[in-house]
Amino acid sequence: MNPTLMQTDAERSLAIFPAGSNGEFNLPSALSMVIARGSGCDLWDTDGKHYVDFSMGWGSALVGHGRREIAEAVAQQAPKGANFAYITEASLALAEEIVRISPASERLRFCASGTEATMYSLRLARAFTGRSRVIKFEGAYHGANDVGVTSLFPQRLPDFPTPEPSSDGIDHLVRDHVLIAPYNDLETTQRIITTYADEVAAVIVEPLHRCLPPVSGFLQGLREITAAHGVLLIFDEVVTGFRLAYGGAQEYYGVVPDLVAYGKALGGGYPIGAYGGQFEIMDLVREDRLGRETYVWTASTLGGNPVSTAAAGAALSVFRQPGAYEHLHEIGAYLREGMRQTLQARGIPGQIIGDGPLAQVVFTREEEPVLDYRSTRRGDAETSRAVMLGLFGRGIFLNPMGTKLYLSLAHDKAACDTFLDRFDDTLAKVFSTA
Ligand SMILES: Cc1ncc(COP(=O)(O)O)c(C=O)c1O
Repeated sequence: MNPTLMQTDAERSLAIFPAGSNGEFNLPSALSMVIARGSGCDLWDTDGKHYVDFSMGWGSALVGHGRREIAEAVAQQAPKGANFAYITEASLALAEEIVRISPASERLRFCASGTEATMYSLRLARAFTGRSRVIKFEGAYHGANDVGVTSLFPQRLPDFPTPEPSSDGIDHLVRDHVLIAPYNDLETTQRIITTYADEVAAVIVEPLHRCLPPVSGFLQGLREITAAHGVLLIFDEVVTGFRLAYGGAQEYYGVVPDLVAYGKALGGGYPIGAYGGQFEIMDLVREDRLGRETYVWTASTLGGNPVSTAAAGAALSVFRQPGAYEHLHEIGAYLREGMRQTLQARGIPGQIIGDGPLAQVVFTREEEPVLDYRSTRRGDAETSRAVMLGLFGRGIFLNPMGTKLYLSLAHDKAACDTFLDRFDDTLAKVFSTA
């Protein structure tokens, strides 16, 4: 008999995909699985096992899996053509709606992922200012591009602003061009900006850094310092866009950057990225500038394809439905409070961070505020991974490496209660053996 016929789907997956995943799901083989289908916030694997999903496609399926409006929009568009690499009705209407709600975006282009959107934003910033360095915050992720994986998980914690690559294989020049600042520390960030002002093209920030909210005045302060030094401010809204509010972090925190990058929730689960900015910055991409002083190459074969943009248009109409953001914030607060109470009832030191439909547990003592990468890192990573894997084994689908929990419009209090029951059960097991 052919041995592959005797393998489980999980074994076949482990045999062909490194770590049995497309990234970030380095599960032990006993937990490895292959997904068959999803509906709302439920998933089933190919063995029929049920999971409640707290990853939601790393936050891309904010509308919930299999949402009717999205499925219908895709079904209508698919027979009319999958891609023309040109503007279509769907992408035009979508761009008009994004520009309407995104004050930073006077002009916009689509691409196919968040990684591309931040990469083009950084390139535009360098070209527009004629400067080569960029500042990012330690621990921030801006996609799998070279900047995104610099000081993403630094281990040696060099003095600021020295970067540390978190991946091999990236261009060594990144060491000279990326400066690292501590999130939520305006004073140190200001010092770095003023020291390198003439060389810095942009500060790129996740307005909500991983799962950490900005302290009062931090984003406003960044806006003022960058403007004072001719440094562009880039909001990476790949996570916050359409999630914290319909108008994303710009609306939620009331700060307008120079450039903004979108992805994830925008596409309703379909591949999309977008980047927008002021007219004079975005205009650098016009092909008729080629050969003139400043011209920026951006092009994405699948960017703005009609199926993804039809899905995105439908996703935005779902987000505009009355009560959508009230629901996302209510269930997020419910989950975070429930997690806090579960830790407290068991006397386990830890903090629950997040905002809107996002939550994360950091196993660190209550009196130490968690404000940035270094304070998050003081949390016990081994315990955190044991808890994440324990939850996974109990039918909570999540990204055990990322530890950030994503809720969606399909989650309700019952789904959160299921999580909280299993969280409690997992804590009992992990802390009894600790
Ligand atoms: C803040 C942020 N920016 C960019 C990205 C990259 O997006 P993508 O995976 O679509 O390339 C991510 C992905 O997790 C992200 O969290």
